Amino acid sequence: MAPSATTLSTEAPQVLATKLVTRTKNADGSALYPDYLPFYDPLEKVEDLGEFEHFDPGHRADPQLPNLLATATKIDGVQLSQLSPAGLDELALMAAKRGALVFRNQDFGDIGFERQKEIVRHFGPLHIHGWAPHPAAGSEEHMIIYDHIDDLRVRKSWKGRSPVQWHTDQSPEPQTPGTTFICMLESPAAAGGDTLISSSVQAFKSLSPRFRKRLEGLTAIHSNNDGVAQELKNGNGAVMRRAQLEQEHPVVILHPVTEEKALYVNPVYTKRIVGFDQEESDYLLKFLFDHIAKRQDFQCRVRYEAGTVLVWDQRVTNHSQTLDYPAGERRHAFRLTPLANKPIPSMVEKDDGECDKDFARASLGLC
Ligand SMILES: [Fe+2]
Repeated sequence: MAPSATTLSTEAPQVLATKLVTRTKNADGSALYPDYLPFYDPLEKVEDLGEFEHFDPGHRADPQLPNLLATATKIDGVQLSQLSPAGLDELALMAAKRGALVFRNQDFGDIGFERQKEIVRHFGPLHIHGWAPHPAAGSEEHMIIYDHIDDLRVRKSWKGRSPVQWHTDQSPEPQTPGTTFICMLESPAAAGGDTLISSSVQAFKSLSPRFRKRLEGLTAIHSNNDGVAQELKNGNGAVMRRAQLEQEHPVVILHPVTEEKALYVNPVYTKRIVGFDQEESDYLLKFLFDHIAKRQDFQCRVRYEAGTVLVWDQRVTNHSQTLDYPAGERRHAFRLTPLANKPIPSMVEKDDGECDKDFARASLGLC
């Protein structure tokens, strides 16, 4: 019988090979964006940014998004480099509501360091990473993401452990990142190098109301000590621009604009729950980390093409890299990371009636 749409076939799926995307590459194997190649200076130091006042651009946004979508009816037609300040405000609001936005066919990678930074500074002062490379030509705010046969430094840092590590960037900062940009410059030839994203709003919402209440009011310690230790393995070549960071943050936070609650722990940086004994903290954090990793019903996977820019709100998402392409192939991108508000604790509500409002739970008699 010939296979139909509803009949399983035992034949090999020949069609898959012809669907693989071929990404642009230079014929001589050189980088498409040499100005953005990574540069490591072990002697480099930078000052901490210090406390600053943050007013989130999303507060100013028109919820109808007339400027963001002035030249488009959906984000397919948006050119990030052309957005007005009001359009960027609306971008902040949309990213806060949706978690992550994927913009295709952008010229963002071709407009130069200064213009790129000018755009992203709209969302907050730009973070300088403690050890990740920046371009040799300057701009220490550009965090270069690079993996290639001529520089396996990052790939080697994952040696012997899973490269899939859910996190929000730089959560050990006192004021953590907000609306963040990754601009893809060059992807592995066929496929791969995607970014995984998980909604931390949904991660919180999907827990039972009674469990949610147990989490609210808790705080946790975030530290980048593991990353520092990993970087120090580079010996004389290790870059340590800043001191190690450690910070206490609420376990459940409020987004400053949408006021949605989000689970704010991650397996890369969150070390322990304050006031819990070690075993209690380990037990709870293991559950929460597994919850973030396993719940594919609130995750998405961003596949990059030439000119793709990912804009996402770190306060309402976790994300992870993938290393699913052949070792030695070039993957090259940069991240610009604006710092935003100090994480806002959600208030513990005595009886918010949330369970009765949740039809899925109420209809199953779970309240
Ligand atoms: Fe990250």
